Amino acid sequence: MILIKLGGSIITNKEKPLSARKKTIDNLSKSLKKIKEPIIIVHGGGSYGHYWSVKYDMHTKERKYDIRGVSIIKNSMIELNKIILDSLLKNKSNPYSLPPTDFMSGNKPISKKINEVKKIAKSGLIPVTYGDALWFGQNKTYILSGDKIMTHFAKVLKPRLCIFALNEDGLYSDLKSKKVISELKGSVPLMSENKMDVTGGMTRKVEEAIKISKMGMNVFFVNGKKPERIVAAVKNREFKGTMFRGKRNV
Ligand code: IPE
Repeated sequence: MILIKLGGSIITNKEKPLSARKKTIDNLSKSLKKIKEPIIIVHGGGSYGHYWSVKYDMHTKERKYDIRGVSIIKNSMIELNKIILDSLLKNKSNPYSLPPTDFMSGNKPISKKINEVKKIAKSGLIPVTYGDALWFGQNKTYILSGDKIMTHFAKVLKPRLCIFALNEDGLYSDLKSKKVISELKGSVPLMSENKMDVTGGMTRKVEEAIKISKMGMNVFFVNGKKPERIVAAVKNREFKGTMFRGKRNV
């Protein structure tokens, strides 16, 4: 079982509101088709969900946000999800759209539901879920990031590998020379932040990656614009990117 997060920065142009990178998405779909193991896809919000979350000042903290914003954010995520699903279908995969309301209750993941997602993936369907605006309770709502979903899923499903497809070659030890850190076991370098991002950008990804690797699983950051690297990582265990070694594997 492989868990893959398609970051918003790779599937959309974060500089331009509501712009999906359809060619990049198609290339990812074509590569993912080559993977014969069960996979689950999680995708981010990029210039869809994040764009509206910023406009309506909605964040990951559970609060009474503007319900108009909740509605619009949800709608935009369905729109982006549809683009991903269409691309997978066109490229002969069988996606199974799975809004996070299917496996979340408030801000808690429902293990029983997540275990069912594994069965769906094993049947050959590809569950595709995404970061979203969610109901919390008592008129409160919040943004659940796709990165958090990765951690929830990893905890229950124990995938062989968790992959984060990014708009970078991996984590850089030096931003100027763009030298990629091939393997990480301990401390993490500081990164610059993106203002259009309500869920914490790269820092959140690294935090979740560390959580998952501490649970014993390998987490791999790879450039989604070079999707053949995803295939090489899964099929040949060739890791061109940054690997967070699962603690038990160190
Ligand atoms: C954000 O999901 C979802 C919304 C803002 C509704 P992510 O936090 O996983 O998105 P990216 O990958 O950083 O764009």
